[in-house]
Amino acid sequence: MTATSPFACPTCLGELEERPDALLCRECGASFALANDVPDLIAAGVRIASEGPGDTPAMAWRRQRFDVLRGPEAPENALLLERLLEVIDDGALVVDLGCGPGTLLGWLADRRPGAQYIGLDIATAALDLARRDAGRRAIYGRASTRRQYPFASATVDVVVRRLAPALLDEVARVLRPGGRYVRFTFGPRHWAEVYDRVPGLPRAREETLATEAAHLARLGLAIEPVHTIEREIPFSRPAVLLALRANPAAFHINRVDLEPLHRLWRDEEGGRREHVSLTVEAQVLVARRPVADASQPPA
Ligand SMILES: C[S@@+](CC[C@H](N)C(=O)[O-])C[C@H]1O[C@@H](n2cnc3c(N)ncnc32)[C@H](O)[C@@H]1O
Ligand SMILES: [Zn+2]
Repeated sequence: MTATSPFACPTCLGELEERPDALLCRECGASFALANDVPDLIAAGVRIASEGPGDTPAMAWRRQRFDVLRGPEAPENALLLERLLEVIDDGALVVDLGCGPGTLLGWLADRRPGAQYIGLDIATAALDLARRDAGRRAIYGRASTRRQYPFASATVDVVVRRLAPALLDEVARVLRPGGRYVRFTFGPRHWAEVYDRVPGLPRAREETLATEAAHLARLGLAIEPVHTIEREIPFSRPAVLLALRANPAAFHINRVDLEPLHRLWRDEEGGRREHVSLTVEAQVLVARRPVADASQPPA
């Protein structure tokens, strides 16, 4: 008997059989090649027009460096880890949507090693870094988080999403009753000192989490109060440039005038300041798929 993959067929949601160089769907016969043990789960012919290639190798590397600089104790990361560790039990299946270089999965696996971790990303470069970093503590699949997810319905305990795209209907479908969706984003005041000076850079939109909560509620999920932190935290100029070049902002940064940003790190006499306090506004939304009421027979 050949082993069954933890992934499901992205086309028909059938079981996937593990072969040496591919995963093979037991239902529809589709085959998904493995590259460095990572299956390419992007089903042919269902590409969405607005779907890009994901992060470039340079962006994925910078993202990893910025995570290392901030570390898991940084207030924004601690806020997310605290919420996640509240809901990840031993044996839980945790899926990270748009996992990038896998730093978050590594932090989770260090703290709750008894859970099973899966990262999805569309960018091969990010998955290569993730495999080297979080390595054997997680498994990875190349998939678009904006199409049908490669998991059977009601099989995932925790879906986590940090600054990456998602398809909320799919989040609701794959969550087990009682399962949680934990979404991290930066608020509209995050790094306002930078974004206000450089209006050409894309920034967080105010309505994002409210719109998302309303959508999740329509899908039948119970929304918990959003956890927010807002702090003044000193940052160096290289750290800020590293983060901006790890973001979608990277696609715009060469076209905008960064001089007003550089001036932030100059004092009145024109000297250089090592650190400047910037507002960090981070938000975590948790939504729970209710456990069906056993007293109510299914309709
Ligand atoms: C801003 S990064 C966040 C990465 C990671 N979650 C983190 O917090 O460090 C966005 C990630 O989403 C990925 N991505 C973009 N579009 C995607 C899609 N359609 N499907 C899956 N991943 C996607 C990018 O490759 C990138 O790794
Ligand atoms: Zn199939």
